This record gives sequence, structure tokens and C-alpha cells, in this order.
Amino acid sequence: MEFLLEISYLVATVFFIICLKMLSSPETARKGNVIGGIGMAMAVVATMFLYKSPEGKTVGNYIWIIAAMAVGTVTGLLSAKKVKMTAMPQMVAIFNGMGGACSALIGLVEFPGSLDDPSKTVGLSAIFASIIVGSVTFSGSLIAYAKLNGNIKKDIRLPYYNVLNTLLIIVILGLMVCLLLHNIDNPPPWIYLLTVISLIYGVLFVFPIGGADMPVVIAWLNSLSGIAAMFAGYIYGNLGMIVCGILVGASGIILTVAMCNAMNRSLVNVFFTAFGGGGGRGSGSTITDKTVKEISMSDSAVLLYYSKSVVMVPGYGLAVAQAQHALHELETLLEKNGVDVTYAIHPVAGRMPGHMNVLLAEAKVEYDKLIEMDTINPRFPNTDVVIVVGANDVVNPAANTDPSSPIYGMPILEVNKAGKVIVIKRSMAAGYAGIENHLFYDTKTSMLFGDAKKVISGLAEEVKKF
Ligand code: TAP
Repeated sequence: MEFLLEISYLVATVFFIICLKMLSSPETARKGNVIGGIGMAMAVVATMFLYKSPEGKTVGNYIWIIAAMAVGTVTGLLSAKKVKMTAMPQMVAIFNGMGGACSALIGLVEFPGSLDDPSKTVGLSAIFASIIVGSVTFSGSLIAYAKLNGNIKKDIRLPYYNVLNTLLIIVILGLMVCLLLHNIDNPPPWIYLLTVISLIYGVLFVFPIGGADMPVVIAWLNSLSGIAAMFAGYIYGNLGMIVCGILVGASGIILTVAMCNAMNRSLVNVFFTAFGGGGGRGSGSTITDKTVKEISMSDSAVLLYYSKSVVMVPGYGLAVAQAQHALHELETLLEKNGVDVTYAIHPVAGRMPGHMNVLLAEAKVEYDKLIEMDTINPRFPNTDVVIVVGANDVVNPAANTDPSSPIYGMPILEVNKAGKVIVIKRSMAAGYAGIENHLFYDTKTSMLFGDAKKVISGLAEEVKKF
């Protein structure tokens, strides 16, 4: 039995690793997700039916477990079907929070004992870590959810919040040490105090962070939920949980760092400077003496139809307008006329990692048409027309030229090097960084104002007339 259980965990782990690998490409992501799900189901079923405690007890409580699984499955399925693509970050936040809550509850249930581990101090540390990290993840994720969902509209910053948060960490660690030194066969109520303070810390940690920085926080909380699961797995000596937790923890950290790098921000800057709030960093040089040039729908269609090469640059506005299907239709029409059409993908375009890839994959755009920033940038000087669809910061040349700009140093799509640029957006409003975009005033640039879906559909209709 024990051997079979270990083998099941090993196979499940291999499935998780294959899943992660496949998730790194939109082409294979769906299959990867299914493989990961099969691995998880295997690990759960194996634990339920093959696990025996050192005293020889089986898991039992099957009715409760199956009932809880049924509730979880139905809730998960319904919410996954209902959720809008733009609300995906909120959904991930809730999932992370649930993972954290599970780990915290496991720690609370298992305190002080029933540890398989011979060294109780190590086992107890795992319990405390599970409670602390799990509670922080739970309450932090709920706040992140509420912010992204618009339930909390303000970034609440208490005076000296960084000092307060640091003090809370010291109190949490101090309590943990006291509990470790306490007689563990007689559990003190302090364990609940530890849980409550950790929950408060989670709330206060996420409260001041700007709503638009939430995706980074969510990637971080995702990583924490994995770390909490790893500690919880250690409590039970469950290899499957430990490995799964490590994989989630490590990939979450890599994702967090990758997002920060792509925004030219440090993790410290995101977490401790209360930046990225309400869509306005609002600095950088302002433009007062220039006007923008507008272009009509029909002129844009002519320009696109008679080009040799067109690069489409999707951004957050594409997601808001849900214009991906219309964009794919326009691409197909142009290609029928022999135009070479590709998409330029910036790593932080939109509001979550892989946002544009997901939208375009949903519209069945061929994967090899999505070109990453480093590959497409050298191609812009040979591109006839770039069509920017609801993107702003990721094409702002100030990132390369204006040291006073808050996005200075952020790698951008250098669309201003192409022959002509058409920018589709509704107004002259700023993007997430809250700054003006010099690209809009460039002599090569023409603005085509309107909702991305309506404009792109209109362009497709115009092109059909040729
Ligand atoms: P943004 O700079 O946020 O600009 C989006 C533009 O879309 C806005 O200027 C808006 O202008 C336009 N828009 C909104 N709704 C529209 C609609 N229905 N039709 C047409 N246009 C519409 O977007 P971006 O260029 O994709 O850059 C992403 C930003 O988010 C970066 O600053 C990045 O650092 C930040 N960020 C990204 C992530 C990830 S992981 N992707 C995470 C956190 C932060 P109008 O209102 O005038 O239409």
C-alpha cells in the first residue's frame, strides 16, 4: 500500500511538471491544465484510499470528504464557466485565498501534535509556518479580490503603515518562538492569537498597494499559497503535497519577478511604496504644444489593405472591448490580400500575465503569429503599418527617452520605428501609468478614436468592400 501511494505521488508529480511546462505556451496550455488536473485527482484519490497512519488508521470520513469535494467541484465549475476573461485575476485571487485557508486550517487542526516527525520542534515550526503563511495568504487574497472587483475602491494607507507592518511581523515571529518554547502537550490559546495577527497582517499588507499593482501581488500570494501547502504537506509527511507546494511556490516567485522586470519595478517598490494606485502615477514630461492627427475609418482601411506588412499591438483596451475576435477577422481579411500580419506581444500588456496570449488564443489566432517583444522590435523599421489596439504604456517611447518618466527603463514595443502607426483608443486618456504618451503626437502616428471592438469591426467591413 505504502509503496503504491508513493508511486502515485511520483506519477502525480511528473504530471504537475509536464503541466507547468505545457502551461508556458498558449498552444499547449489547455492540455497542460488537464494533465495537471489528472495528476491532482490521482494524488487525492491515492491519499484517500491508500494512506495509512503509523498507527495503521486509514483516512475514513469518506462521506464528509466526498460531500466537500462535490461542493468544491460544483462551485469551481460554475464560477470558472461564469467568470469573464477580464475578471480572471479576481478568480485567481480567490483560489489562492482558499489554498491559504486550507493550509492554515490544517495547521490549526494538527496543533500541537499527531506529528509523524520525530523532531517535534521542526514539526511544530511547520505547523506555525502553515498557519502564518496560510492566514496571510487568505486575508491578503480576499483584500486583493475586493480591490480588483471594485468592492474596495480606495488604497487605504494607515499612517506609518510600513512601520506597523514590520512591527506585526516581529510580533508574529516572537509569538512563534514563544509557542515553540512552550510546553507543547498543553496547547495555549496563543495559537489563535497568532492566527488572528497573521490575518490582520495579510489585510494591512495588501491594503496600501495600488489596485493596478494587484496582479503582481496575486502572483506573490499564489506563490505564498504554494509555500503554505508545502508546510502543510510536511506536517503530514505527504510527498505529493510537499512537491506540489514547492512547484506552486517556485513558479509563483518566478512569475512575480518576471512581471516586476517587465514593468521595470522592483518587488520592494511594488510592496512598500504604495504605488500603482487608481491608474495614476502621473509624472513625466507633459505635452502642451502639440496636436494629434486623426484618421478616418476608410483611410485606415486603405492604408492597411495596401500594406505589405502590418503588426497589430494589442493592449488592455482590447480586453476591455473584447475585440479579439474582430481583430482576428481583420487579420484574416488582410492576409487574403497578401498582407503579412503578425501580433506584437508585450509581457505586461493588459492586466495579468499572458493576458494578450489568452485573448488571442480564445479568438483562434495562430500561435506562431504572436511575436514576443525582443523578436519583433528589430522588425519594426521594416513594417509598413502598426495598428495599436487599446495599448498605451507598452508603446510609450518615454520609457526610452524621458528620464523623468515613471516608466523610464521599462522595455517597450518600439512601434515608433515603423512606417506608420494607427492608434485605436476612445480618448486621449492615459493608461495604467497615468502619463502622457509621446507616440500619439508623433508625425507618423494617426489616431482612430472609438471603442476597439466597434472600430476594428468597422475596419473589417471597410476592407470587405475592396
Ligand atoms: P494601458 O497602458 O493600461 O492602456 C490601455 C489603454 O486602453 C488606455 O489608454 C485606454 O484609453 C484604452 N482603452 C480602454 N478601454 C478601451 C476600449 N474599450 N477600446 C479602446 N481602447 C480602450 O495598457 P497597456 O498598454 O496594455 O499596458 C499595460 C499596463 O498595465 C502597463 O503599464 C503595465 O505595467 C501595467 N500592468 C500590467 C500587468 C500585467 S501582468 N499585464 C500587471 C500590472 C500592471 P481610452 O480610455 O482613451 O480608451
